[in-house]
Amino acid sequence: MNDLRILILAAGKGTRMKSRKAKVLHSVGGATLVDHVLRAVQPISREILVVVGHQADEVKASMTGVQFVDQKEQLGTGHAVMCAREALSGFKGDLLVLPGDVPLIRTETIQEFVRFHRAGAFQASVLTADIANPRGYGRIVRRNNNEIAKIVEHRDASAEELKIAEINTSIYVFNTPLLFETLTRIRNDNAQSEYYLTDVIGILSADRRKIGVWKSPQADEILGINTRQEIAYTDSAMRRRKCDALMSEGVTIMDPGSTFIDADVVIGPDSVVFPSVQIYGASVIGEEVTIRSFSRISNAQIGSRTNVLEGCVVEDSKIGDDVTIGPYARLRPGAILADNVKVGNFVEIKNSSLGAGSKAMHLAYIGDTTIGSNVNIGAGVITVNYDGNRKFATIIEDDAFVGSDSQLIAPIRVGKGGFVAAGSTITEDVPADALAIGRGRQVNKESRAPHRKKKSV
Ligand code: UD1
Ligand code: CA
Repeated sequence: MNDLRILILAAGKGTRMKSRKAKVLHSVGGATLVDHVLRAVQPISREILVVVGHQADEVKASMTGVQFVDQKEQLGTGHAVMCAREALSGFKGDLLVLPGDVPLIRTETIQEFVRFHRAGAFQASVLTADIANPRGYGRIVRRNNNEIAKIVEHRDASAEELKIAEINTSIYVFNTPLLFETLTRIRNDNAQSEYYLTDVIGILSADRRKIGVWKSPQADEILGINTRQEIAYTDSAMRRRKCDALMSEGVTIMDPGSTFIDADVVIGPDSVVFPSVQIYGASVIGEEVTIRSFSRISNAQIGSRTNVLEGCVVEDSKIGDDVTIGPYARLRPGAILADNVKVGNFVEIKNSSLGAGSKAMHLAYIGDTTIGSNVNIGAGVITVNYDGNRKFATIIEDDAFVGSDSQLIAPIRVGKGGFVAAGSTITEDVPADALAIGRGRQVNKESRAPHRKKKSV
């Protein structure tokens, strides 16, 4: 939108969170509170200022593409806006002000609000909402049953004013020069000894300026997060939103209430997500994929028709089509599974690739290893990649077979079609098509068993 700049207030401590961390850095739905607000306003204007104070360095580090304004002491929302005076000097357009703690706000709602402000040629507009439990919010006090007279904070409100259900969302549009002119007139003679931005509305109203009040039909969007309870509530609302969107696109989600899927996750149609699954970050999942209960997937790419069975942990990994993993498989960062791979229970894979059709079905550790196609890794195989000091690589070429309970002491290579006998400790490369046996010979001592048993009684 033309001639519009945005000011996000994010300097407060968030006392009610009882946290060492600044409130706006707490996460819901996979992103910080302030990041959600930023994403909502970015399509509206690229001229974005953020007021920072409490944990300013951390807040700054968490955001890109914005300009910061420092509020050294947090003396209230009005004072926070005053801190942006210099950054906005000479700017004559509209300023959209919003708090950093309204993560549910949608771009469309803000756009509609700005259009309302402009259509009415108001000098200031307030976004309000009727809510069932207005506790803690500033109330909209009207005059003559119509125009706004002032905003009164919960702690400063009379018994009569506390009955008002219409609240201030802390989202405003102001004529910028008029805003800064009026801010010089606010005082901190209130319950919190703070400079309230809300008082600007009262002053403008007393001056008979034209003020717009736009009541949002979506009251649940404007919830300001002040407590951990509200974080939990919002997180579940966001997860529900994400699940609804995925279901609309053809994904089956059996139990949205227990499903955690971050906002940016992509899942193809006809995929099925069982109860109690977590999918985080930038994960991209194909079509007809099944993800069973108690699996946690972060930043993974998963092809189509793949099955993730119960209890898998998958991080920063890439999985092809028609793969099966689990139950209880662990794919650590850098695991790459080609199409038709099978990884079974209690298999851990780190920084390793398995070629098409290869299998590791039971109890194996595969680290820093490159495995070709159609390789069989037996039960209990360990690639011994670490000597206590450095890491070494293992290479297992196409069609090789590594028998159960073998250890491959890296650096080592098993050539194409090579065969490692079960129970071997392999310390030298195995040539292509060779059979390697690396274990102590068995000795059978006739009739000795009963004797041993007697002795041990
Ligand atoms: C504010 C409004 C209240 C409204 C509510 C909506 C005021 C005085 N009150 O109250 O009318 O109903 O939001 O959620 O404005 N901040 C700063 N610097 C400060 C103080 C706050 O940057 O010195 C920032 C905070 O980081 C936060 C935002 O301003 O993002 C709102 O502050 P908060 O303390 O949450 O205000 P509320 O008490 O919720
Ligand atoms: Ca708040």
